[in-house]
Amino acid sequence: MILNEKLLTQFDPIDGTIQGYPVVERRLSQLRGVFGDTQAFEEALAEQGDALVYSVTSVEPAEGKGQLHYGIGKIMPGRIGQEYFMTRGHFHEWRIAAEVYIGLNGIGLMLLEDDSGQNVRTLELSANSIIYVPGHTAHRTINIGESPLIYLGIYPADAGHDYGALKERNFSQVVITQHGEPVLLDREIFLASLV
Ligand code: NI
Repeated sequence: MILNEKLLTQFDPIDGTIQGYPVVERRLSQLRGVFGDTQAFEEALAEQGDALVYSVTSVEPAEGKGQLHYGIGKIMPGRIGQEYFMTRGHFHEWRIAAEVYIGLNGIGLMLLEDDSGQNVRTLELSANSIIYVPGHTAHRTINIGESPLIYLGIYPADAGHDYGALKERNFSQVVITQHGEPVLLDREIFLASLV
């Protein structure tokens, strides 16, 4: 590959920035439909304004087969009703593409779900943890702590992001806070509890 200026980057593990690369922000108003509790979502938007939920800084040193891209994610601490601040979540467009997540700061969880929505795992994503996300697996990152959750994701350059597959059904399970602890619950049971 061409030796270019993107071979080395320097990042801040506390604020989640990569020197010289723009931060892409995801604010509350862009995440309508992500949180199950729509009433709590609209109330939060009205009362707190368009809060920053998460941001991503991506580095794409080269394109094409065999190349890698990576990005640092930062999820702010916060909740919408019982649900923690989290990412939208996605499959990879190229379904077989796997990804590695490395926790840098804060306390979080990754929610993994297969194509069918039948097989679900939550894994701890904190400083010093490494999570292998296999292909064909939807992945969402959740901040269950009181400080920003910072992590690094490394993925094939041609993985792509597919948000559409989850737009209608969302993840089959939710992670909510109950008595101060994160609990995994069927989405339908959670939604029924809100009525
Ligand atoms: Ni991914």
